[in-house]
Amino acid sequence: MKAILLVLAAAGVLAAGVGYAQSGADVAKSKCAACHDVDKKKVGPSFKDIAAKYKGKKEAEGKLVGAMKEGKGHPKVAASDAELKAAVQHMLSAK
Ligand code: HEC
Repeated sequence: MKAILLVLAAAGVLAAGVGYAQSGADVAKSKCAACHDVDKKKVGPSFKDIAAKYKGKKEAEGKLVGAMKEGKGHPKVAASDAELKAAVQHMLSAK
């Protein structure tokens, strides 16, 4: 009985953790996909074009996140810093 409760508790923690730490791919799907696609231009450039443009530019990530937060040089996106960072990393690593 006790063991079952422990398992249930662990599963709960795991589920909560997964919900909180969304992967970049998840964020990109929910917050960016309206305007960006993986390999086709939509409202904005494709993930692949973005990755190609910023290839090897390490400072790009912070700049891009800042632009999205403030709505300067990019439409403002309503997402947390962590979500933006994850989504940008996901796009920059697109192949
Ligand atoms: C409302 C539409 C819209 C949404 C939502 C959106 N974008 Fe964009 N994005 C654009 C447009 C338009 C451009 C092209 C801007 C330009 O080149 O001036 C762009 C360009 C970009 C670029 C390239 C910027 C550059 O300097 O070349 C990146 C990176 C980017 N978006 C990331 C994201 C991420 C990450 C998200 C989700 C968190 C997102 N975008 C959501 C419209 C959008």
